[in-house]
Amino acid sequence: VVLVVDFGAQYAQLIARRVREARVYSEIVPSTMPVAEMLAKNPRAIILSGGPSSVYAEGAPSLDRSLFEAGVPVFGMCYGFQLMATTLGGTVDDNGAREYGRTPLHVTKAGSTLFEGTPTEQPVWMSHGDACSAAPEGFTVTASTDVVPVAAFENDEKKLYGVQYHPEVLHSTHGQQVLEHFLYRGAGIEPNWTTTNVVEEQVALIREQVGDKRAICGLSGGVDSAVAAALVQKAIGSQLTCVYVDHGLMRKGETEQVEKDFVAATGAKLKVVDAEKRFLDALAGVSDPEEKRKIIGREFIRVFEQAQLEILQEDGPEVAFLVQGTLYPDVVESGGGTGTANIKSHHNVGGLPDDIEFQLVEPLRQLFKDEVRMVGQELGLPEEIVQRQPFPGPGLGIRIVGEVTKDRLDLLREADAIAREELTAAGLDRDIWQCPVVLLADVRSVGVQGDGRTYGHPIVLRPVSSEDAMTADWSRLPYETLARISTRITNEVADVNRVVLDVTSKPPGTIEWE
Ligand code: XMP
Repeated sequence: VVLVVDFGAQYAQLIARRVREARVYSEIVPSTMPVAEMLAKNPRAIILSGGPSSVYAEGAPSLDRSLFEAGVPVFGMCYGFQLMATTLGGTVDDNGAREYGRTPLHVTKAGSTLFEGTPTEQPVWMSHGDACSAAPEGFTVTASTDVVPVAAFENDEKKLYGVQYHPEVLHSTHGQQVLEHFLYRGAGIEPNWTTTNVVEEQVALIREQVGDKRAICGLSGGVDSAVAAALVQKAIGSQLTCVYVDHGLMRKGETEQVEKDFVAATGAKLKVVDAEKRFLDALAGVSDPEEKRKIIGREFIRVFEQAQLEILQEDGPEVAFLVQGTLYPDVVESGGGTGTANIKSHHNVGGLPDDIEFQLVEPLRQLFKDEVRMVGQELGLPEEIVQRQPFPGPGLGIRIVGEVTKDRLDLLREADAIAREELTAAGLDRDIWQCPVVLLADVRSVGVQGDGRTYGHPIVLRPVSSEDAMTADWSRLPYETLARISTRITNEVADVNRVVLDVTSKPPGTIEWE
């Protein structure tokens, strides 16, 4: 394992991903972890991330010197670079040499370990106030910028390396190459981590964990739960039962996709609960977004628990495990626990016996989203499931502005299916993050179709681009594609006489309308 020490910025996850892209397994640890504990993990190398602090600020995170003396190769980036410099006796000062953004880097030493085979002039992404003016003893300075004399240093003997910039961001055009040079040349690591290893390793672990007991898994139709279920299915076969709640708020063809494609690809035992009427009854007369969300969440738990109860009552070994598609970013963000959580089911609403506790099986806890997709592919899940864009749990219920009714859902399903079909046909699926299609059910406008006046509803297209859904920009889709979608929706969907485009970023808008 390669440890990425997180100094409290958003960079650590990105670095961990880049290391894995180099086919080397990586894990993130907090900078507050004692060095002895880091070393106890037997890391092949350690990377120190950037961070928001100045090394001289009061309470700035620091590192024990012993980290650099353990014989483990270390690569410091930005804050990690400055920390390495000051800890080992170099000089970092606030001399006004600030650099933010794209900066030309001058490689000053031919044949360096980090820069071998990269251009002597290369753009890099900088973000720093303080700067290193003298490298520690025993280090060779291998790059500089117009304002910073020491922008990279290397000590091949001790296997210690550092760069002032951020090699993990794409603006540093040779960053990945430099990182790989550290891993392969500096640390001597063989690139052999692949998702195939993950599948084999997880299958063995799941078998060991579950033994001859039974497990259940809720399927949402999304990528994560589908891949988690497929992995567990591969490990324990018929000991797993998947539960899929059809709340009637799904998009066109979605339930069928789970029922047919998922089962065909995995052979999993699937229990589909048709709860459309129950959800629509509960939603009748409700327009407030928060109220809708609460009702949908509540009904979902009730239906799911009822299904669990039915499975518990079937003959067979104890049902002791609940499978969840938790991903690595969730684990890191919630403090990086080691996965021993026991959750108690909400017995108060579903009538489960008081003493039922499930142990969690979370086979995707080590993985990033793109890796989950690769594992899904590896397991033979169809492209439509593996490459699926995000879709909210409350489904179309929060894409109808106004009361949710069966007629309105049917109308929105048609409009949404057309938009998806055209986006796919135009090859745009990978360019956009997702494209909510929203029905403004409480709005009417006047139109003319054929020879007659119409008084119909508008449909909103909300295509966005995003990295993580925390922020988003509206996608600049080609006019031809927008025109085709608009023409088809107004021609083919009764009661819709207008299609409008949402050109708001997030913030200030959210991605969904409710
Ligand atoms: P917003 O609208 O908050 O959406 O900008 C951010 C991302 O989250 C999705 N989303 C949800 N996903 N349950 C989910 O599983 C929800 O209740 C929910 N609400 C929003 C949304 O589609 C977008 O990807």
